[in-house]
Amino acid sequence: MSEIKNIGVLTSGGDAPGMNAAIRAVVRAGIYNNLNVFGIKRGYNGLISGEITEIGAREVSGVLRRGGTILKTARCLEFMKEEGRKKAISMAGVFGLDAIVVIGGDGSYKGARDISKLGLPVIGIPGTIDNDISSTDYTIGFDTALNTALEAIDKIRDTSYSHERCSLIEVMGRSAGYIALTIGITSGAEAVVVPEKEFNLDTDIIRPIIDARNSGKTDYIVIVAEGIGGVMDIAKDITERTGIEARATILGHVQRGGTPSVQDRYIASLMGVKAIELIKNKELNRVVSLKNDKIVGIEINEALDMKKTLDPHIVSISKMLAI
Ligand code: F6P
Repeated sequence: MSEIKNIGVLTSGGDAPGMNAAIRAVVRAGIYNNLNVFGIKRGYNGLISGEITEIGAREVSGVLRRGGTILKTARCLEFMKEEGRKKAISMAGVFGLDAIVVIGGDGSYKGARDISKLGLPVIGIPGTIDNDISSTDYTIGFDTALNTALEAIDKIRDTSYSHERCSLIEVMGRSAGYIALTIGITSGAEAVVVPEKEFNLDTDIIRPIIDARNSGKTDYIVIVAEGIGGVMDIAKDITERTGIEARATILGHVQRGGTPSVQDRYIASLMGVKAIELIKNKELNRVVSLKNDKIVGIEINEALDMKKTLDPHIVSISKMLAI
């Protein structure tokens, strides 16, 4: 393959705090290594429509501390079809892009794999608050989202304590319980409900609350992952079944924004640089991953075949510490 001169970078799927730090690192490490770096707007949509402009080192000044993504993001329906992907490839040709860096979650990785098959080399960087990408121990945005959620839950705990109530809190995670489980342990929740396990109101919530009351507790926090749904109804059921007043709070998209934490800025910076190293070494069609405290590159098909599940030991810790 001929020398790589021009690369594109885009963010795709749900935004995550720290994506800007990753963009900045890709831009600056790219320029440092004599590459021309182009920003692609609105995820794969911009690759199809040609919203592509070269970015200089100064244009990413001041973005480290900003949440969201300066490139904007989207979930691109057109890209799900072969025809859309072909349009993207031909637009990459118009701009002379030799490779693209995709910052996003699992769905974005699948899109990247599909365009790599059409001949455009890709590098993936894991960016999602869910921490649910199998090939990496950590995804950019997870730590900031956790801190945002925890700060809110600590406040809810205060009022829960005063009123001797049960507070049911829905955190993000449609199909992954990493946020719920980590928040459950760090907020001292009496119960945690994750989408990976079939939900049973009696055993997952009612019994832990009654056990907590019988052991002398007077306020209760229950963390429910978004994928379970129906927290308002569950709160009513708790009141009816236990006689304990319950209130539900949905934290929602507050978890996706805000100033990225030290961890998210740091990991995003290292991952952005790794993406450029892989490109320079022609180790293409790989995803950047944190594995056992090292930033590595993993072949994209291999990465997408990996499985990641909630650690049963961590699940048992959340129960053990809730007594
Ligand atoms: O993947 C990140 C995430 O925030 C999930 O936790 C959540 O289920 C989903 O995105 C929400 O998506 P949207 O912002 O499109 O409603």
